[in-house]
Amino acid sequence: MNKLIVTGGTQLRGEISVSGAKNAALPVLIASLLTSEIVRISNVPHLNDITTTLELLGRLGVQFVVDEKMTIEADASELTDLRAPYELVKTMRASILVLGPMLARFGQAEVSMPGGCAIGSRPVNLHIKGLQAMGAEIDIKDGYIKARAKRLHGARIFLDISSVTGTENLMMAATLAQGTTVIENAAREPEVVDLANCLIAMGARIKGAGTAEITIEGVEKLSGAEHRIIPDRIETGTYLVAAALSGGDVRLRNARPDLAESVIEKLREAGAHVETGPDWVHLDMKGERPRSVNVRTAPYPAFPTDMQAQFVVLNSIAEGTGTVTETVFENRFMHVHELQRMGADIEMQGNTAIIRGVEKLRGAPVMATDLRASACLALAGLVAESDTVIDRIYHIDRGYECLEEKLSQLGARIRRVADYPAPAMRAAAAGD
Ligand code: EPZ
Repeated sequence: MNKLIVTGGTQLRGEISVSGAKNAALPVLIASLLTSEIVRISNVPHLNDITTTLELLGRLGVQFVVDEKMTIEADASELTDLRAPYELVKTMRASILVLGPMLARFGQAEVSMPGGCAIGSRPVNLHIKGLQAMGAEIDIKDGYIKARAKRLHGARIFLDISSVTGTENLMMAATLAQGTTVIENAAREPEVVDLANCLIAMGARIKGAGTAEITIEGVEKLSGAEHRIIPDRIETGTYLVAAALSGGDVRLRNARPDLAESVIEKLREAGAHVETGPDWVHLDMKGERPRSVNVRTAPYPAFPTDMQAQFVVLNSIAEGTGTVTETVFENRFMHVHELQRMGADIEMQGNTAIIRGVEKLRGAPVMATDLRASACLALAGLVAESDTVIDRIYHIDRGYECLEEKLSQLGARIRRVADYPAPAMRAAAAGD
């Protein structure tokens, strides 16, 4: 299994480009199921989760043309199957997003229940409840969600929790339903807005995306469209934290700093000098050590849970004591054990990490557990003495395009190695 080796001690300097947002690209690609015409999507990041999505849609019969810049033309005119199998859904929970579109356009769908994952049980009850309110008959049998509906009808749906993919699934289903649907307590994330903009370009009638109340007036059919995916605000935040914790000076282009305001404000509080433009952001730490900050995750526009692990690392080497409270997922601190093994001084109190900053961390063999936690271990390696060897980096490849290339462009010493056998076995194999 591949590993990443990070050698600490360099201040990151330079400029890199931000990729398209994974969590916008996934629902937008899946929205192609809603029409028999071509949907052309540009600025798609080159990630394993995207490959999985293309494989899943391909299984359903969607045809693709993908160019070298990852512009994807999707053609869902001839679907051959309406079943999303367990072996694909288990690798990517966002596969649940095919349920709403298939139900809306074809009146039936069979999707494997996405099991839990490292960061929590992550049920899909709100997706199911909303579709039932729109007239779907749903049975859960043998681990599969079996759904049918002659034609979905509009409904007023209150989401107990402002679920991101729950909002996206129901919004897509409502575009072809009979009548008007109102989603209350909807997720306000920029990725929901990006999906809505793509659906509107396809002829959907949607108002209020980005607010807590989204109104969708169903139409008979949707047409093809062209759509460019927004920049990834979490990738943006991740590289800004990497610059801040290494005392560096980094500029990100093709960014949307207006979508990362809560993170940028926290970095300024930590002592970073941050300037922003319409499509760029520049962070200069002027060689200073960051100051500790207190962070509490919550749905957008509050501080994002996907940036929580990165700020645990920042606080680990900052001056002072900072706290990080996770309110979205019930088990999203597995990176803490790995950071403690690198010398971080972290005490857990319920869903809050109390972090006393130390000057430096110590390199160590560590293990990635989920997508964002694994990226934070690479960041920790930047400010650790000697080498940090990160195992299970398939988590990183799911959500960060060319992480080691981008960090290397900024001067980091990071390389990917195949997992050679243990030294003794290697010597024997070499006939030493
Ligand atoms: C999306 O996941 C993102 N994934 C996650 O990013 C992100 O962390 C999360 O939103 C929160 O911002 C994609 O967009 C593909 P939720 P999602 O439904 O939609 C509970 C990453 O790193 N809930 O907003 O699955 C749930 O258990 C990933 O890119 C229910 O109880 O998250 C959680 O506690 C990780 N019932 C809370 O709501 C439901 O039916 C928020 O989950 C749905 C959710």
